[in-house]
Amino acid sequence: MSQTPILRARTWPVVGAMLIIGVGVGYGAFAAGFIKNTRPVSQPYPFNHVAHAAAGCSTCHHGVKKQAHAGLPTLNACHDCHATAPGTPDTQAKEMWDAAAGDDLVSFNRLTEVPQHVFFSHRRHVTLGAQKCTTCHGEIASTETPPRLPERTVVMHDCIACHEDNGVAVDCTACHK
Ligand code: HEC
Ligand code: HEC
Ligand code: HEC
Ligand code: HEC
Ligand code: HEC
Repeated sequence: MSQTPILRARTWPVVGAMLIIGVGVGYGAFAAGFIKNTRPVSQPYPFNHVAHAAAGCSTCHHGVKKQAHAGLPTLNACHDCHATAPGTPDTQAKEMWDAAAGDDLVSFNRLTEVPQHVFFSHRRHVTLGAQKCTTCHGEIASTETPPRLPERTVVMHDCIACHEDNGVAVDCTACHK
């Protein structure tokens, strides 16, 4: 798509503002962008999405239909269905399992994150926009061990491409605070 002069003219103040924000938060964090894939993520306990296919995604990702954040379960939430530590955890994971009983301090860790200057809402995309999890997250529901890096990296260009296809807002301020 070719940019109209109006869009171009509007772009500059935002770029300027964002460069200032960028300096404010530190360029490293800013440049890391949408996906935390600069270092592999590890999880507190083994998990297998395939073994949990019978439970709906929102059983564990509570906010995915109704809130901005999908949310990840705490290790304590697993105790709702498992009376004893499931699978074959190593010693450290077993200790984490026992320690997690009754408190919500140990959480699973995210692979995907937009920078603080970007608005993103799951409710908007999943419930109102009828977008599928796989479009943005790939085949994580078919994994038997937690992936250490996201399978798919949705960056600004991808957000805008889909918005253009669907006639959704593409002005800078639609997505940027
Ligand atoms: C809604 C109920 C439910 C919740 C919540 C739940 N599980 Fe499970 N889990 C199951 C069922 C059902 C199975 C398959 C039968 C079995 O092996 O017990 C299973 C199996 C497993 C297995 C064995 C999988 C394999 O590789 O054979 C592991 C490990 C496991 N769960 C970990 C977890 C963890 C970690 C959590 C929390 C993030 C969790 N579960 C939350 C119901 C649940
Ligand atoms: C029983 C709980 C449970 C259910 C049900 C569940 N998940 Fe998860 N999900 C987890 C846990 C625990 C993690 C973190 C460990 C991992 O990645 O395996 C996770 C991680 C994810 C992530 C990675 C988030 C990120 O930061 O990129 C996505 C995406 C995801 N799940 C999608 C799904 C989808 C889609 C479904 C339904 C088809 C689903 N999950 C069902 C527990 C669950
Ligand atoms: C249009 C793209 C898109 C779709 C569709 C989508 N996600 Fe996400 N997902 C994201 C983005 C972007 C983030 C990072 C959000 C942030 O940093 O606030 C994310 C983060 C997550 C996380 C990490 C924890 C959190 O609270 O945000 C989970 C879990 C997750 N998504 C699950 C799902 C599930 C399950 C579905 C389908 C029901 C789904 N997502 C559909 C783009 C998407
Ligand atoms: C696969 C398609 C798709 C992708 C990828 C996508 N979006 Fe969207 N987005 C939509 C649709 C469809 C809507 C309209 C939903 C509705 O009906 O309210 C929307 C709406 C929005 C809105 C509300 C806009 C407004 O003013 O109404 C924001 C903000 C937004 N998306 C941000 C993002 C960001 C940030 C990303 C990338 C991380 C992204 N989107 C990726 C399809 C997508
Ligand atoms: C549909 C949503 C969307 C729209 C519209 C959008 N952006 Fe973004 N933008 C993002 C997301 C998501 C990121 C973080 C991921 C990335 O860096 O690609 C981002 C990152 C950025 C960054 C930081 C890049 C970096 O290296 O960290 C700048 C600067 C930026 N956008 C400027 C703009 C300007 C200027 C416009 C208007 C012409 C605009 N954006 C429109 C979603 C959007």
